[in-house]
Amino acid sequence: MHAYPHSHVFYRKLRRAYPLIVRGEGCYLHDEAGRSYLDACGGAFVANIGHGVRAIGEAMARQAAAVGYVNGTTFTHEPVEALAAALAARAPAALELVYFLASGSEAVEAALKLARQYWVERGRPAKHTVLALAPSYHGNTLLALSASAREHYRTLYRDWLVPVPRVPAPYPYRCACHSVGEPCDVCSGNALAAAIRHEGAETIAAFIAEPVGGSSTGASVPPADYWRRVRELCDRHEILFIADEVLTGAGRTGTWLALEQYGVVPDLVTMGKGITGGYAPLSALLAPRRIVDVIAAGSGAFQHAQTFSHHAVSCAAGLATLEQIDRQDLVTRCARIAPAFHAALATLAELPHVGDVRGRGLLAGIELVEDRETRAPFPRALHVAEAVADAALDLGLVVWPNVGQADGTNGDLLLLAPPFIVGPTEIELMVTRLRAALERTIVPLLAAR
Ligand SMILES: Cc1ncc(COP(=O)(O)O)c(C=O)c1O
Repeated sequence: MHAYPHSHVFYRKLRRAYPLIVRGEGCYLHDEAGRSYLDACGGAFVANIGHGVRAIGEAMARQAAAVGYVNGTTFTHEPVEALAAALAARAPAALELVYFLASGSEAVEAALKLARQYWVERGRPAKHTVLALAPSYHGNTLLALSASAREHYRTLYRDWLVPVPRVPAPYPYRCACHSVGEPCDVCSGNALAAAIRHEGAETIAAFIAEPVGGSSTGASVPPADYWRRVRELCDRHEILFIADEVLTGAGRTGTWLALEQYGVVPDLVTMGKGITGGYAPLSALLAPRRIVDVIAAGSGAFQHAQTFSHHAVSCAAGLATLEQIDRQDLVTRCARIAPAFHAALATLAELPHVGDVRGRGLLAGIELVEDRETRAPFPRALHVAEAVADAALDLGLVVWPNVGQADGTNGDLLLLAPPFIVGPTEIELMVTRLRAALERTIVPLLAAR
C-alpha cells in the first residue's frame, strides 16, 4: 500500500493512496497494477515532449558517465555552455545570458534578487519593492511565495513573507469588462499605474507576472494590449519587468515564450518545467547584458549561490529535450493542434457548472462555478475541483485541480496541459473522461451537502 503511514516516503498528501507508476510512454503513464492513465496535464505542466523518450535518458546517462557534477563557481562544462546558447537563441535578442537552477521557485527567487542587486549596484538602493498580480503564482520558497497571491499556501507563513503590493490580474472571466469593448482599469493597465503611483516608482525594483495565467488563474489570457501598457509603464518608471514563464515557456502556449504573442520583450525571464520535459529538475533565469554588466563592473558576482546550479546532467537533459522539440517541430505542432483541443474542450461548456473554458496553445483552464449567471463559486468546503480530479483519475485521466482564484479562498479550476505530441484520439478521450468525471461528481456533491 503506497500511502501514509505504510511507507517511509513522506508523501505530499498524507490522506491518499498513490498508484506506483512503473512506465511512461507518450501521453500515458502505466502503474504496477497494469492500469493506464492519460496524462492530460503533463504532471504539473511539465511533460511537453511526452513520457519515455529514450534519447533523453541516454543523453543524461552519457553525461553522468562522463562527469555528473562540477561546481559552478570553479568549472564550466559543455552541456551548460550549449544549453545557455540554445536558450538565448530562442529568446528575444537582448536576453543573452542564462543562469541555471533546479526549480521554478529558485528561478523566481533569483530573478527578484537579481533585480534588487542590480538597483543597489546602480546606486539606487531605495528600489526594493516588488509588485505582483493577484491572483498569481510564482513558487513556494519564501520570496517567491511572497510574490504569489495564493492565500492557502501563504496563511501559515504570513509572518515570514515580505510585503508585496498587489495589482489585480487581467482576468477576463472575473473583471469588470470581461475583455469586451472598452477595457476596465485592470485590463487597461490603469490598475498597475495606480499601484506604481501609490508605492512611488523610486521604491519599486520589479514587477513580476505570468504572461498567460498559469495554475492561479487557470489559463486566463490577458487582453491583447495589456503587456504593451505594462512595458510602457515599466520603462517610464524604471521598473524591471520580469516575465515568469516557468509554466508558459518552452512552447506551452504555441510560441517558445507566451509573451512573444504580445510583441513585448521583458527585462528578465524565468523558465522551468518544460525545458527538460520533466526528465530532470532544471530552471533558468534569462537576463540581458545591460543588467549583468552592472554587476560585472560592480561587485563581480550575483549573490545567489546554490550547490546544484548549472548542473551538468540536468543541462544535458535540457539539450536533449530541445533537440526532440526541434526534430519533431513540437512548438509548431502545439500551435497547430491547439484549435482542435480547445474546440473539443468547449463542448464541456454545456454542462451546468462549467462557467468558462479558456486558454492558449496546449494550456487550458476550466472554471467550475455554482451559478453560471452570477459566476458565484462553490463554497471551498465542498472541494469540488479536487473531487472532480479524483474522479477523473479513477477514470484514467490526470488533470490538475486548482482552487481559490475567485476571491482568495473560493474557486475551482481544472487545468489541462497535455504533451505536445497529443493527437485527436487522446483529445477525444480526454473530453469523454472529463465529462464523465464532471457528471458523476458535482451533482452528488451538491445533493449531499
Ligand atoms: C508561473 C510559475 N512560476 C513558478 C513556479 C514554481 O515552480 P516550481 O514548482 O518548480 O518551484 C510555478 C509552479 O507551478 C509556476 O507555475
